Amino acid sequence: MQAALKELDKELTWVPHPTEMFVPCEVPSPGQYINYFTRSSIANVKTVGPQVTPRQLQEDFPDMVKMNEVCEATILHNLRQRFAQDKIFTNIGDILVSLNPYKWNLNCPEQLCSDEMLIKFSKIPTGDEVPPHIFGIASTSYRGLLNQKNQSILISGESGAGKTEATKKCLAYFTKVAGANSGGIESKILESSPIMEAFGNAKTVRNNNSSRFGKWMMVYFNKIDIQICGSNIINYLLEQSRIVSQNPGERNYHIFYQLILCGSLDNHPLAKWDLGAPSDYMVLSRGGTYGAEGIDDVKDFQELTDALKTMDFTSEESDFMFRIAVAVLHLGNILFTKSDGAGCKVVLKGSSGVALQKAADAIGIPAEELNTALTIKILVMGKNRVSKPLEDQNSRTVRDSLSKWLYNR
Ligand SMILES: Nc1ncnc2c1ncn2[C@@H]1O[C@H](COP(=O)(O)OP(=O)(O)O)[C@@H](O)[C@H]1O
Ligand SMILES: [Mg+2]
Repeated sequence: MQAALKELDKELTWVPHPTEMFVPCEVPSPGQYINYFTRSSIANVKTVGPQVTPRQLQEDFPDMVKMNEVCEATILHNLRQRFAQDKIFTNIGDILVSLNPYKWNLNCPEQLCSDEMLIKFSKIPTGDEVPPHIFGIASTSYRGLLNQKNQSILISGESGAGKTEATKKCLAYFTKVAGANSGGIESKILESSPIMEAFGNAKTVRNNNSSRFGKWMMVYFNKIDIQICGSNIINYLLEQSRIVSQNPGERNYHIFYQLILCGSLDNHPLAKWDLGAPSDYMVLSRGGTYGAEGIDDVKDFQELTDALKTMDFTSEESDFMFRIAVAVLHLGNILFTKSDGAGCKVVLKGSSGVALQKAADAIGIPAEELNTALTIKILVMGKNRVSKPLEDQNSRTVRDSLSKWLYNR
């Protein structure tokens, strides 16, 4: 018994480790470090962290400001221990650390984003300690509003960390606790996600549903009853290079695959575009991948069209947006003759000629006009306009710039 207690209180030292970041070590003699868990010896230790005991290693801190020693080693250890038990949320005072579990069925009920948890957080009295949870951030913020103070929530992290999902959870909280009288605004706020994701999210090597733009979202609350009365979303810095080319293993924006896959279904309204398969398009082929695990393009398109309806887009407006995406697909297949200094021409034979016609149709201009725009440069000198044929590499740049410009509208 005595020996077991002594064992729990023996002194260990945090030591940097190439893959584990930090490991607790026994130090039997100066300069000798033995990993407490694996018993392996660690060589070339230059700096060491603070001391720790096996008893302290077992402690679990839902709020890390309460740790005896707050440093990189102890923070990582606490987060790792909690994560192993599906506790993905941990507080550091007012800050929430959220780890992405990549699964929704957590073993720890109080870490779930269920309706039950949402209601529980909405009932926490002001001044009470808020357990670590994304709803805790939203509820603290909402209580600040009740105090007539403007609030902001900053969500940051590397790609795939879970920022977009965390944002959606905060919005879900606000729309639930403060959406009753807002005449549908709350559903519009939530329904903006499928639209922005279809046009602004893509599969990257790190995240199959990565938002490729910055988002500044404002939610307005009524001063009297603190209910949602409006919202404003500003999107900026859409990654435009992706519209015409992708890195290996990555996809273009989801909307392109949604249009093509739905268009291939019998009797689907999109069948009118006769789009064929994703592999038919240069602007989808450069990443060498067409599917994304966990992404159901057909289902997502249904959500997109539902969302467009909720947001009061007319069918003409929706159709216009889809037409732009169709134009981008065809523009990418337009080829140019090799010019060697004499100006290039659009290849009119075969698929390139078909693409020119279809792109022009989608944009709503005659094919000849698009042809000229892609191959001739107009120089304005005083009152004179001089036209100059473009070299093939310049025409390709013009074609890609037009695609980016159209898509970015
Ligand atoms: N809290 C969570 N629980 C379970 N899975 C999550 C959670 N947050 C994110 N994910 C998963 O991780 C993926 C990437 O998350 P996302 O929020 O898009 O990352 P970010 O916006 O930071 O790049 C999501 O598509 C989802 O599958
Ligand atoms: Mg994101």
